[in-house]
Amino acid sequence: MSRSIVFACGLLAASAFAVSVQAATPQSLFNDNCSACHQTSGKGVKGAFPALAGDPFVQGAPLPMMTTVLAGRAGMPAFKDDLNDADLASLLTYVRTSWGNKGTPVTTADVVAARAKINAAKKPRNLQAH
Ligand code: HEC
Repeated sequence: MSRSIVFACGLLAASAFAVSVQAATPQSLFNDNCSACHQTSGKGVKGAFPALAGDPFVQGAPLPMMTTVLAGRAGMPAFKDDLNDADLASLLTYVRTSWGNKGTPVTTADVVAARAKINAAKKPRNLQAH
């Protein structure tokens, strides 16, 4: 590999890192991934996208809310392949504690555990396919 290619790769890696650090505020994660449907206000769109602001499900037990966002539901896409555990933890904490919501924060370890639950639930189906 030539020196200039090594240099270019280094630059690319450095700029990708800078972008991801900048993008990873909880609010920008929400705005980038969720607000198209649920709105930046968290109020959703009546009849189409449920409000997350003031929603008891969002502020309740963390696990069902986390697995809903990881695995998707009905008209909502799954986010497990789009976001890493740390970003999901800050995004979900933002949703649980913004707009007057009084949910408890979730940690990266909580998201890892929720992911494991989803994978465990999927296993029997995967095994049958072989
Ligand atoms: C493409 C539109 C869309 C996007 C993007 C989207 N959602 Fe949803 N979301 C929905 C719909 C539609 C539902 C209702 C699903 C149903 O009918 O069960 C929903 C439901 C939910 C629920 C369950 C609410 C309840 O009371 O049951 C949560 C929590 C949620 N979304 C969080 C998020 C988060 C966090 C993001 C971003 C990571 C996100 N959503 C992105 C459309 C979307």
